[in-house]
Amino acid sequence: METKILRVDRTNPDLTVLAEAAELLKSGELVAFPTETVYGLGANALDAEACSKIFQVKGRPQDNPLIVHVANRAIADTVIKSWNVFAEICMHFFWPGPLTLVLPKKTQVPATVTCGLETVAIRMPKHRVALALIELTGLPLAAPSANLSGKPSPTSADHVRQDLHGRIKLIIDAGNCQVGLESTVLDLTGKIPTILRPGGITREDLEKVLGEVRVDRPTENQAPKAPGMKYRHYAPNGEMLLVSGSKEEVVSRILKETQKAHGNLKKVGILCTSESAAWFHDLHPELLFVLGSENLPEEVAANLFRGLRLCDEQGIEVILAEGVEESGLGSAIMNRLQKAAGQKIIRL
Ligand code: TXA
Ligand code: MG
Repeated sequence: METKILRVDRTNPDLTVLAEAAELLKSGELVAFPTETVYGLGANALDAEACSKIFQVKGRPQDNPLIVHVANRAIADTVIKSWNVFAEICMHFFWPGPLTLVLPKKTQVPATVTCGLETVAIRMPKHRVALALIELTGLPLAAPSANLSGKPSPTSADHVRQDLHGRIKLIIDAGNCQVGLESTVLDLTGKIPTILRPGGITREDLEKVLGEVRVDRPTENQAPKAPGMKYRHYAPNGEMLLVSGSKEEVVSRILKETQKAHGNLKKVGILCTSESAAWFHDLHPELLFVLGSENLPEEVAANLFRGLRLCDEQGIEVILAEGVEESGLGSAIMNRLQKAAGQKIIRL
C-alpha cells in the first residue's frame, strides 16, 4: 500500500486535504492525524471492521481498548450512554484538551473499540486539524497513538512514517505535537474520579475542580484498570536505565555508568535536563539529548519521545536518563520514563 503524506497548516488547515482524509475515514480506511498530545491512528469508531484494522496495523494486543475522539457534544452523545456531574465539570474545564474520560458506552459502540468493556474512553483534542477532521466526518474517531505497539508514541508525522509507512493510506502532517505526552485517562464510573494513566492534565489540575481524585496504582498481582498500562510501552531498542534523586548523585552515577558502558564498547545516549548537560560533554557520549529545563516540565514532556526515538535512529545501546521531580506533569514524565526503562530505575 502506498502511504501519502499531506502537509497542512496547524492553525489554518487546507480543507480540501482534510476532506480527502474524511472520505477515507468514512469508507473504512485508517488515517493518521495530529493532536496536541501525540499523533493518532484514526478510524470510524462505529465501524468494527475499520477499528479491527487499527489492531492489525499497530500489532496492538487485543485487550487494549481505544480512545474515541470527538469534536462536539452531539458526536460525543453517539457513544456515551450516560454523563455524570464529574464528566460535566471535566468537559467544562478541560475540553478540548489532553483529558480522556472513561464513561458507560452506548450499545452501538462496537466491542472491538472497548475490547468488550461496558465503558468507553472519550476525549476532545485541542488541535485545529483534529477537530476539523472529526467535524468533516461527522463521526466519532477511534484513535490510539499512531506508533507500532511497544514503540514510543509519535510526536511528528515523520515518527508515524517510520512506524507505519506502507501500512496505511494517509498521514496528515501538521508538524510537531505541542504537549508530547498522551492524555490523562480518568475513570469517572466510580464514586471517586480515578486517574488510570497520568498525562497532560495533572492530578493537581483535576483536584482543583473535582475534589478528591485517586490514582490507580495496581499492586503486583492486580491488573491496572487501563489495560494498556500493563504493557512495556515506549521501549527503545537499547538498554535503558533511569536515574533519579539529588542532582549531584544523579550526575555522578550517570558519569560512572557512561564510563562503564564505554569500557564495554557500547554506544551511549544520555537524556538529561539542560541544567546537567554541561557535566556530560567531556565524556563524549554518542548522543547527548537535552530534554529541557528541570523547571519547565512541559518542555521535557514535549521532547521526551523524540529523544527516545533518536536513540534508536542512532543505534544507541545504553541509554542513561535523568529523572525529574514526580509532581504535576513530572508524574506523567516519570511514568513514561519508567516504562521505557522497563522499570530499571535507580533512586538516589
Ligand atoms: O493523547 C492520547 O490519549 C492519544 C491521542 C492520539 O489522543 N491516544 C492514546 O491512545 O494515547 P492509546 O491507545 O495509546 O492509549 C489508550 C489508553 C490505554 O492505556 C487504554 O488501556 C486506555 O486508554 N483505555 C481505553 N479505553 C479504556 C476503557 N474503556 N477503560 C479503561 N482504560 C481504557
Ligand atoms: Mg499508545
